[in-house]
Amino acid sequence: MFFKKKNRRKLDMNNIPQHIGIIMDGNGRWAKKRGLPRSAGHRMGAETLKKIVIYCNKIGVKCVTAYAFSTENWNRPKSEVDALMDLLYTYLGQVEEQFKGTNVILRVIGDRSALSDKINAAIDHAEEYTSKNTGLVLNVALNYGGRAEITRAAKSLAEEIAAGRRTLRGVSEQSLSELMYTANSPEVDLIIRPSGEYRLSNFLLWQAAYAEFWFSNINWPDFSEKDMEQAILDYQMRNRRFGKV
Ligand code: FPP
Repeated sequence: MFFKKKNRRKLDMNNIPQHIGIIMDGNGRWAKKRGLPRSAGHRMGAETLKKIVIYCNKIGVKCVTAYAFSTENWNRPKSEVDALMDLLYTYLGQVEEQFKGTNVILRVIGDRSALSDKINAAIDHAEEYTSKNTGLVLNVALNYGGRAEITRAAKSLAEEIAAGRRTLRGVSEQSLSELMYTANSPEVDLIIRPSGEYRLSNFLLWQAAYAEFWFSNINWPDFSEKDMEQAILDYQMRNRRFGKV
């Protein structure tokens, strides 16, 4: 009998993506399939994020940016927005239990001005609690939009020019990069979107310039360490040219 040989490639530990962006999509569909409310899908999605972040930290990924709530998600039914905010509040409030022993640094990126005082306090607490850690940085993108991020950076440059603190010649790609929420993170190497959708949905627009993309049909709550390993194995097969030949 002839059996097809299984793919036994191993991760090249010298070529681990430094920064991975994840669009955690398919939570609603995951829940619907099981006759559960959408909030159950988001709750499971949060568990998946934790599992995947722990795996990424173990294999040496330096940074994960996860899309938790976009600037457009406010347009969802109020009940879903409230449920998502409650989930984020609980998740951040349980940072001790969620992140104990993981060495993960948690940061929130996005426009925090529209978030409630309660959520902002929970973010401050979670960021402070994990700030002494030395492992992977988890950027949770909350009320985040790529266009809003670029607009904010452009406004900030315009203000500096108007105030005479910067010249027009002093505006460069570098200066814009330094004004993005991800200024202190490595370049984004890989962006993952599960659930069979093939678009960026306003996620990391500036940072995606030379990122590799990886898509799959799996709904985010079902995403496993094996799927992440496969995404990285595929990434390692890509020929990244950065515009060169
Ligand atoms: C998109 O899937 C996902 C979201 C709008 C929310 C993602 C947020 C979480 C997983 C919450 C956990 C995050 C933290 C940090 C606690 P969808 O709900 O639109 O799914 P669908 O396309 O199947 O309807």
